[in-house]
Amino acid sequence: SAAPTVAPKTGTGVFSKTRAALGARTLRTDRWWVPPLATVVGLAAFVVYATIRSYVRTAYWVSDYHYLTPFYSPCVSTDCVPGASHFGHWFGHIPAILPLGFLVLPFLLLFRLTCYYYRKAYYRSVWFSPPACAVAEPHAKYTGETKLPLIIQNAHRYFFYVAVLVALINTYDAIIAFHGKSGGFGFGLGNLVLAGNALLLWAYTLSCHSCRHIAGGRLKNFSAHPVRYWFWTQVSKLNTRHMTLAWTTLGTLVLTDFYVMLVASGTISDPRFIN
Ligand code: FES
Repeated sequence: SAAPTVAPKTGTGVFSKTRAALGARTLRTDRWWVPPLATVVGLAAFVVYATIRSYVRTAYWVSDYHYLTPFYSPCVSTDCVPGASHFGHWFGHIPAILPLGFLVLPFLLLFRLTCYYYRKAYYRSVWFSPPACAVAEPHAKYTGETKLPLIIQNAHRYFFYVAVLVALINTYDAIIAFHGKSGGFGFGLGNLVLAGNALLLWAYTLSCHSCRHIAGGRLKNFSAHPVRYWFWTQVSKLNTRHMTLAWTTLGTLVLTDFYVMLVASGTISDPRFIN
């Protein structure tokens, strides 16, 4: 059979003269493209859903039970439906070009986009750098995270603090949602959804690699810092599940919003256990 054509060796990286002269992009024969494809489908589904829901400005608040979807929290504009602004009105009218949850969505996305796990996922599936082990990437140059825009990845540690704030706000929302139709304490299926979402958000946020560094990094010896050592040990346990938590919370965010939307729009009624 004809010999495979040899890729031109003119640039750097996989195109450099010192790399093996392989004609094929990869010699792998397994379905190496399945994981990157699944990743891109999952991430795209989230982005499409979150974008549509963030812009529709309907069915985000259940006034009977005080359920607020995380995509609209905090709701700090006078455009927010009465009752949904737990922290007051900081802004007047927000033009339709911006989502009502404009204070949360950019940070939610920046935290996730710069997350160490998500980077691994989309560097492979979207950036193709490289798409899989032993599969050549199309880029001629490799500059890592040293230049714009990828140098912004280094700001992840700061987005972590904002993510803690978001988790606190979602926790507050979940607590005040224990509200009955006629006032006082109430408890329904929506409470389990909101509380479960907040709990998993904490697990994802605390399992962050930056959090692990804050807990136990730059210490010369653990024996002199027993509290930080204990915290670091707990965070390390969660950290081993960071990928699972990243996907789980992407799913629970969507499910929580979807549930609030169904109840708020009157499509289903919230099963109540108390009041
Ligand atoms: Fe994933 Fe920080 S590393 S959230």
